Amino acid sequence: MSRQTVKLMGEPNLIEVSTPVVDFGDSLQLLIADLKETMKAEGGVGIAAPQIGCNQRVICLGFEKNERYPDKAAVPFQVLVNPKYEVLSQKQIVDWEGCLSVPGLRGLVARYERIHYRGYNEKGEYVEGIASDFHARIIQHEVDHLNGILFPFRMDNLKHLLFQSVYTRLHTSPLPKAVDS
Ligand code: NI
Repeated sequence: MSRQTVKLMGEPNLIEVSTPVVDFGDSLQLLIADLKETMKAEGGVGIAAPQIGCNQRVICLGFEKNERYPDKAAVPFQVLVNPKYEVLSQKQIVDWEGCLSVPGLRGLVARYERIHYRGYNEKGEYVEGIASDFHARIIQHEVDHLNGILFPFRMDNLKHLLFQSVYTRLHTSPLPKAVDS
């Protein structure tokens, strides 16, 4: 396995709809190994196959502690092949999001608070579960990648698109709520 170069916003393949996986053989195992390695090396909390140039419906997520999201609780490590989800509550949470394909920026994005997800693990076994809060946010963000959607496309108001350095300054000062309103 090896770390791959992360594709950046503007690359045509990032706005394509990816293809379902039908073969759980060696090429899928290699793709998953590359996703894991790249996510780890880049310090991401999730990654989707199109981000390393492969338009197959595979995502990888999870972390124990993450420097990019220091205030977030751990999310179990998961590989989801052909992931889908249903929304369990119409309630949405607005929170800051980033993306390895949109480096240096953060934006406020509304995501459903609670979802029921399903898909297949790397062995081709059916998996499902309930995800809420940040875990649910990551799954929604990564599934969006499989549908050619990057987080800025989900933003209601581009006034809430910030450079990471500004975000960090505001969120360690007494003024963080000023940008939320
Ligand atoms: Ni992303």
